[in-house]
Amino acid sequence: MTLSLRPYEDADWPDLLALWIETWSLARPDIDFTARTPWLAGLFKDSLAGGARIVVAADAAGPVGFVLFDPARSWLEQIAAHPRAFGTGAAKALLGQAKEACPAGLRLDVNADNGRALAFYRREGFERVGKGRNPLSGLPTLTLEWRPPSSAGLKTRETPPS
Ligand SMILES: CC(C)(COP(=O)(O)OP(=O)(O)OC[C@H]1O[C@@H](n2cnc3c(N)ncnc32)[C@H](O)[C@@H]1OP(=O)(O)O)[C@@H](O)C(=O)NCCC(=O)NCCS
Repeated sequence: MTLSLRPYEDADWPDLLALWIETWSLARPDIDFTARTPWLAGLFKDSLAGGARIVVAADAAGPVGFVLFDPARSWLEQIAAHPRAFGTGAAKALLGQAKEACPAGLRLDVNADNGRALAFYRREGFERVGKGRNPLSGLPTLTLEWRPPSSAGLKTRETPPS
């Protein structure tokens, strides 16, 4: 698969929405993700207005995944790959874009029972630093952090200079 990575454009919305619904419905068939369309639309709009970035991965047939992250907060908000792109390296390439834009490190929340995502993040160098609950579903979540080898970490970076 020849993959390209590029910034999000408004024209990507229908494809990204469709792949987000399809991949999340596979992971959690008990949740109606189509009903969350207004939530995702608001997240895209507000995140981009606030300075966050969306990178799209596409092959010859169109978008196969995206990552939404905020470098100012060192926060990864969303990453999703279409099921046909699972295991192809598309998600790893998208995560690489977020890491590159967040050189001090990166944090995220993941559902505690999302085995595939947890294995993916662990393989890509993330470690557990906290826990919480998903504000939409109420399900337990874990907060994970990636720190580049040369970084002292996000906690240290957040300490005000003396
Ligand atoms: C999470 C996601 C982006 C990862 O992309 P991916 O292409 O599936 O990831 P990879 O195939 O590179 O890695 C997945 C790993 O999980 C493993 N895995 C697959 N199913 C698993 C399961 N049920 N439990 C545990 N591990 C599992 C795979 O073997 C692989 O590990 P390996 O490379 O060491 O063999 C993608 O699966 C996705 O979009 N999922 C739905 C949305 C989602 O969960 N997003 C993240 C929310 S925080």
